[in-house]
Formats: sequence, C-alpha cells, structure tokens
Amino acid sequence: MNILLKDTDYFEYVEKIKNFATEKKRTYRVITFGCQQNEADSERIRGILEEAGFEPSPEEAADVLLFNTCAIRELAEKKVFSMLGKFKAQKTNSEDMIIGVLGCMAAEKSVIEKLKKSFRYVDFTLEPNRIHDLPRLLYLALAEKQKNYPLGMDTGDIVEELPFVRKDGASAWVSIMYGCNNFCTYCIVPYVRGRERSRESERVVSECRELVESGCKEITLLGQNVNSYRSDISFYELVKRISDIPGDFRLKFMTSHPKDVSDELIELFADNKSKLVPYFHLPLQSGSDEVLKRMNRTYNTERYLSVVNKLRKIRPDIALSTDIIVGFPGETEEDFQKTLDILSEVRFDFVFAFVYSVREGTPAAKMPEQIDAKIKSERITKLLKIQDGIALSKNQKYVGEIFDVLVDAKDIKDGVTVYAGRTPTSKRVHFSSEKELLGMHVKIKITRAAPYDLYGEQI
Ligand code: 5AD
Ligand code: SF4
Repeated sequence: MNILLKDTDYFEYVEKIKNFATEKKRTYRVITFGCQQNEADSERIRGILEEAGFEPSPEEAADVLLFNTCAIRELAEKKVFSMLGKFKAQKTNSEDMIIGVLGCMAAEKSVIEKLKKSFRYVDFTLEPNRIHDLPRLLYLALAEKQKNYPLGMDTGDIVEELPFVRKDGASAWVSIMYGCNNFCTYCIVPYVRGRERSRESERVVSECRELVESGCKEITLLGQNVNSYRSDISFYELVKRISDIPGDFRLKFMTSHPKDVSDELIELFADNKSKLVPYFHLPLQSGSDEVLKRMNRTYNTERYLSVVNKLRKIRPDIALSTDIIVGFPGETEEDFQKTLDILSEVRFDFVFAFVYSVREGTPAAKMPEQIDAKIKSERITKLLKIQDGIALSKNQKYVGEIFDVLVDAKDIKDGVTVYAGRTPTSKRVHFSSEKELLGMHVKIKITRAAPYDLYGEQI
C-alpha cells in the first residue's frame, strides 16, 4: 500500500527532536555505500535530518553520523565495519554523538548480532524500507539514550512524501519501485529489501514533472528490478508518460531484468521524440545456461541475445552494459569460457564484473563446489582484460565524432578548469573550458579514447 507521511508518527518525532536541546546547532553526516538506490535513499535521509533541524557537517565527524550501508558482497560489509571502527574513539569520548546504521546491512540478523556484540556504541539500526522511522529512533537515541536494533519491521508499504535534499540540480534519481521477487540464488537483496512494490504512477509522473520544471536535465528511474514495475499502468506506459513531459531532459532507467524487457519498451528506443537515451543496462550474470539455471535467472542466453539483437536493430547506436558474476558455485572452465564468448559476441560498452561472494542465508551459499578464491581472481582478471580491449575499440570509434555532453563535474587541475559529463550513451567525457558549464548541455568533439573515458574539446 502507498501511505502518506502524515499518517505515520513521523511529524510527531520531528517536532520532538526540534524541541530537544534547542540551544545547540546540531550537525549530521550521511556516509553512503553501494548502489544508486542507496544514493537516492540518502537524499531522503538528508531531507529528514534537515527537516528536523540538523545541518550538514563540514568535518568528518558530526553530531549524528549515519552509515547507509550495502550488503550485496562481503567486501561492502567489511568496509562498513572498518569505518565504524574508525569512529569508536570519537563516539566513546562524546556523550552527544549518535551513530546509526541504515541500509541493507541493517536488515540482516547476522549484522545486528555482530553490532550488539562488538559495536555496542552504535545507537540504532534502521531497515531500508523504514526510512520514515528515522525521527523516532533518532529521538529515542538523543533524548532517552535508548539503543534500538529493530528487525523485520517491513510492512510492505511505500511511505510517500518524505522530504529530500538533492546534491546536484542537473541529474536526479527517482525511485519507482522497491524490493525484488526474483530470488536469484546468489543475491541477498530480496531478503533485505523485501518484496516488490511499486509507487503510484501519478506520483512518479508528477515528481518527474516538477524536477524538469525546476531545471533537472536528466532523470534516472530506479528500482532493483525496474522493468517489473506494476501499478495502475505498466512500466512501458510509465516510461512513455514521463518521456512525454515537455522539456529538455534525458531519461534512463535501471536495473532491468532480461525476463521483463517487453517489445513495446524496446520500440520506445526507436522513437526520435522519446527522451530515452540510447543506453541500456541489462545484467547477464553468466554466459552459461547451466549456471544461469542454478542462479535462478529464469532466462537462457538465447533469450538474452534476442533482447540485445532487437535493441540493436531498433537503435544501432545504443550502448549496452551488463553485470557479470565470475566464480559462481560449480562454474567450470567451460562455463567461464562461455561467458567470455558472449562478451566477445555482444561487445558491451561497459561490464561491471564481480567475484561471487557468499551471502549467508541465500541458496547459493549452501551449494557444493564453491570456487577457490585464486581461481575466481584469475577469472575476473582475464575477463576484465578482454573487456578492456573491447571497450577501448568501441570508444575509439567515437574519436572525431561530436556529442551532446551533459556536464556534471568540475575540477581545477594545475590552474586549468576541467569538466566531465556524459554522452547520451552514458560515456564519460573529459574536457577543459574557462566558461561556467556545470549542469549544461555542450557539444564536444572527441579527440582521444581510453577504455573507460573519452577526452575531447568544446566546439
Ligand atoms: N556476489 C557477487 N556479486 C553479486 N551481485 C549480486 N549478488 C552478488 C554476490 N553474492 C552482483 C550482480 C548484480 C549486481 C548488482 O551485483 O551482478 O547484478
Ligand atoms: Fe538480486 Fe536478482 Fe533481484 Fe537483482 S533481480 S536484486 S540480482 S535477486
């Protein structure tokens, strides 16, 4: 169900926080790990903190320090524990400092147990679908020095109208659905983010309209499984409606599941008037049908390739990216070779490759034939080397061409102002200019290519 913030106890606790210790200005810092969904959640977390009267901290530490965590791989979790450790001394010396652990790790039983055992200075945890509960937990920590580690509180609802603070005016993420029902056997997401739920289309469309009216130049629709969006209208219809909003903006979405890519969605890429950029992120995970089956991906390579071929037929300039896991339990040399073969066949523009990481509680964690770390590491090195060559040769085709680049970063290097932005195909472009160009569309001629970056000059 979609419920409104006013129907929860949110405002009651925001007021309580505001009335608590009013003589002191309090600062906050949100440290974000992981995916774009977490980045988007952190915008809401900052919005709530500012509504409750906190100010961003100019320093590393803050009165309220929140970790918005990622659980997808063990390494991500290790990073969080090590960072938490760094703040231990500061926290134990400061009566007033509050530390909270939010995000996917906060929904894991094993993490909560570890925090209780070895990180007692953490004041509270908050599961990803309970962000509206932040004021209550924060107030209890601040005013009553209570420790809270709630677990299993996800009601399956979406709470609408949370405030937000967006960092960058030119680009925005808009979450359209949360959770995942796919239960890929390696993945922890369905356990920590719960079942799929979609926002009402009218809310999504009006949020996008407001963004465009306030000058936003790029909207990325977000969801763990974005194209299985289902409310009063389908994902295709939602994309079409957003694309029809008048204005000069780019539209993207991620992450899609190959089983849910409809033909009508593919056809939208052919429409010149559509705001959809020619870029599609479509996780393959493995090039072996045997491995895909054990991963419970529910498609085979034939189905995957047919989607790729349709996309390329309709939009030959489309850039494609994918996610690959190497070293899934039981992955043989032949299976791995099939992944390399498909990479050479499809020639993706970007590949996000990961070494399989055991996630306790998922079916793959219990599968026999776990692959040796050394083999996993050799496989990923080999894969990345092949992909570097493919990416470089694809990027070299851009040299001499002129692209519209949406500028999103600015830096001064040796007295020269350097900018970075993205082509409609999501390629990173670097160039220098003396003008103020942040957030603008500029025409750039590409002069040099590297596997992951393009360099050019403004024309
Ligand atoms: N180990 C390694 N990679 C994983 N991913 C998800 N779970 C795991 C895991 N246990 C990868 C998948 C997914 C991406 C976001 O992270 O490739 O698409
Ligand atoms: Fe994880 Fe699979 Fe769901 Fe993606 S589709 S979030 S990989 S379970």
